[in-house]
Amino acid sequence: MSAPPLERPADDTALQAHFDATVAAEHRIEPRDWMPEGYRKTLIRQIAQHAHSEIIGMQPEGDWLLAAPSLRRKAILLAKVQDEAGHGLYLYSAAETLGADRADLTDKLIEGRQKYSSIFNYPTLTYADVGVIGWLVDGAAICNQVPLCRSSYGPYARAMIRVCKEESFHQRQGYELLMTMMRGTDAQRAMVQDAVDRWWWPSLMMFGPPDTDSPNSAQSMAWGIKRHSNDELRQRFVDMTVPQAEFLGVTLPDPELSLDPETGRYRFGAIDWDELKRVISGGGPCNVERITRRRAARDDNAWVTEAATAYAAKRTGERASPQAGGTSRLRGTATEERNESGVEPSSPEKHS
Ligand SMILES: [Fe+2]
Ligand SMILES: [Fe+2]
Repeated sequence: MSAPPLERPADDTALQAHFDATVAAEHRIEPRDWMPEGYRKTLIRQIAQHAHSEIIGMQPEGDWLLAAPSLRRKAILLAKVQDEAGHGLYLYSAAETLGADRADLTDKLIEGRQKYSSIFNYPTLTYADVGVIGWLVDGAAICNQVPLCRSSYGPYARAMIRVCKEESFHQRQGYELLMTMMRGTDAQRAMVQDAVDRWWWPSLMMFGPPDTDSPNSAQSMAWGIKRHSNDELRQRFVDMTVPQAEFLGVTLPDPELSLDPETGRYRFGAIDWDELKRVISGGGPCNVERITRRRAARDDNAWVTEAATAYAAKRTGERASPQAGGTSRLRGTATEERNESGVEPSSPEKHS
């Protein structure tokens, strides 16, 4: 898909004014609308990072699919992990409406040029981790993503509506699993507490660096891409989660956690920002494992991509180049098809 023109036309002031007015009126910017290049680039970066997080996030829980303790637990976990795949696909599609190419985005992820959420670089050591991820990680995702349903970019905002409905199921299945374990044996309760101890702080880091160290936030908020600051969302998550922890009967690993009677909000201890920086820049416990696995999935399934792309070309009456091979050729085929027919071809990743 060719990117929209990089250069503004002569009447760019009028276009900018129209864009600003659209955002100010809380209307949506759509793919064919003019938009500032910074807005487009910021959105591609954010949506790609979000998509990568959904796809990489399948790994820590996917590790438990074969070991889930009953058919019921297996069915719930399988549905949840498949939902995450779907979230990744909606988001890659949203990025494509901005002129990005999903195969290129995947390459950037694998080469370390784009990031994904630091939380997925921690290991799932016991089955209680599955419950805690649903409760805390999907719970944090809900806090982050509900405001994105009002994002100024139409395709992103609309994708988020369905994503949030599914995240709500993810959070509830996690909490229900933990409730079941807490009503079980001492060993099960200890397992839940241990998982909470390990995931609590990384969950708070999911909201990103503190506002004082988040240089791009102000512009994203002015553009209506982001609706609340990192610290505001983090506080909302803590306020929502502490009563849930009490009801569950677990202790959150923060001795400084206390209710401020004046504000009605919870105060919490200092976050180890060095840990976040270390994990984001590749030094977490599972960074190498996650990317190695993603690379293997791309390479081992290249034949599926090739077959699906050839089939899509055939269906639209186009002849796939017989001597071509490799992903760059595949991308070319898909691009030509979309440009000429005006219809997006069956995406290779939808078949993988
Ligand atoms: Fe998700
Ligand atoms: Fe989820």
